[in-house]
Amino acid sequence: MPEKNFYITTPIYYPSGKPHMGHAYSSIIADVFARFKKIDGYKAYFLTGTDEHGLKIQREAKKNNKDPKKFCDELSITFKNLTKTLNLSNNDFIRTTEKRHYDSVKEIWERLEKSGDIYLGKYSGWYSVSDEAYYDEEEIIDENGSKKSKTSGSKVEWVEEESYFFKLSAWSNKLLKFYQENPKFILPVSRRNEVVNFVKKGLKDLSVSRTSFSWGIPVPSNKKHIIYVWLDALTNYISALKFPDTENKLYRDFWPADLHIIGKDILRFHAIYWPAFLLAAKIKPPKRVYGHGWILSDEKKMSKSLGNILDPLEIIKDYGVDQLRYYLIKEVSLGNDGSISLENLKNCINNDLANNFGNLCQRVFSFIDKNCDSKIPSPDKFNTRDKELSDEIIKKISDLKYMIDNQELNSYIKEVINFSFNSNKYFNDLEPWKLKKTNKVRMNTVLYCILNQIKSISILLYPIIPSSIEKIFDTLNLKKEELNIEQIKNLNLIVPGKIIKKSNILFKKIDNDN
Ligand code: MSP
Repeated sequence: MPEKNFYITTPIYYPSGKPHMGHAYSSIIADVFARFKKIDGYKAYFLTGTDEHGLKIQREAKKNNKDPKKFCDELSITFKNLTKTLNLSNNDFIRTTEKRHYDSVKEIWERLEKSGDIYLGKYSGWYSVSDEAYYDEEEIIDENGSKKSKTSGSKVEWVEEESYFFKLSAWSNKLLKFYQENPKFILPVSRRNEVVNFVKKGLKDLSVSRTSFSWGIPVPSNKKHIIYVWLDALTNYISALKFPDTENKLYRDFWPADLHIIGKDILRFHAIYWPAFLLAAKIKPPKRVYGHGWILSDEKKMSKSLGNILDPLEIIKDYGVDQLRYYLIKEVSLGNDGSISLENLKNCINNDLANNFGNLCQRVFSFIDKNCDSKIPSPDKFNTRDKELSDEIIKKISDLKYMIDNQELNSYIKEVINFSFNSNKYFNDLEPWKLKKTNKVRMNTVLYCILNQIKSISILLYPIIPSSIEKIFDTLNLKKEELNIEQIKNLNLIVPGKIIKKSNILFKKIDNDN
């Protein structure tokens, strides 16, 4: 059987300030897809890291009286720690200040120069340091004498300097053809339409170097120019695969990437500039860019400058990492903006985790503890109702895979939590506490069936709440290797006679005044 590979990336974070919920959100989404693929027999490679160059970081470092490299060394660690706190399963953490990345950016630049896609000129126009983006006159508004980007609201400054340009204007039609030939390159469809309409208006050449600051990768042939931070940053996705060594196994196995998960604010860079750079450098573009919405607080984008941040680290400390992961995936509709609040978080934890799935596990485990000597009961023949219960999940496996492959995470999680609801119902309807007195053989079968459901639902929830599911697997005496989508079909995985280990409450119910 040929190897099934899957390469997924998150945007690499600007290491300035504290990580916030937007960072956490992008990363958790990507982790869910990565983990699903990993338990679905794929060799999945998941990349994240830090985006350390550019004027924004140089200014931040100066504000903190630090040399930019030292500043990045310190803050990059904060973001690396975030990957641990969020329990991400990333295979690599790349920093754009690493040599491997310099080598890769140098090669891209030289290829673009060689193909005739780069020329020297003069840039005069608006630039937002906060977005590290150039804006046209019509993309700017004047708010009480202060010029701002219409889309992000960040301040822009006027720039006039010698600059290398990338001939983006020559790529409009080629990009449109590429989008047409690859209809799922940009998802969701609303984002794709946005991009296509923008490109249809015609693209202007893009300034890809600056001379007014020094913190970045110099143009190989003209060291007074620093390569535009987005050309630098986007290249991280192939630097991590050891580009320009295109013959090495990592690159051969994983490029083109299957999925770049990004926030909608950075769609233009990923869906227009990035494929244009790659096509010009004779490198295949990624297969998909998925632009998720923003996490809002009081209907506004959560951001440092707006000061409306719900701190992911605080929430994890108070409620747990799986609780935050579940909440973000369940309650924010992927692709759209979504408001989050502590109250909703608590309701979600209580309804879905504590009262539904957590309750199912707890009542079954403690029933077996009290009535079966803590041993997994041996089942008799399954009747129609038992079969219906397990079939409900088995029949849905290919739909669930489709949902994951099309980034329909909300539909996925709804299906899974519904399985848990139906399993609770089965337990209530079949009343094993009554069967204990009347028909022990039937009681054992019911318990075995329900344990099997807990196993299957656990496998499906693993990508979202991995550490809780690992605990359930341990309680059930199952091995980590058995956490695999294929095992959903295996109705004999749970071994009768084995002890169900004692476990703590998985998801504590939260008092509303907490
Ligand atoms: N450094 C660039 C990415 C370069 S990728 C080659 C960057 N970094 S960031 O730190 O500002 O943002 C990281 C991710 O967080 C992006 O996907 C961004 O869209 C996301 N979010 C930042 N604020 C957000 C919200 N309030 N809501 C959801 N995600 C948003 O951009």
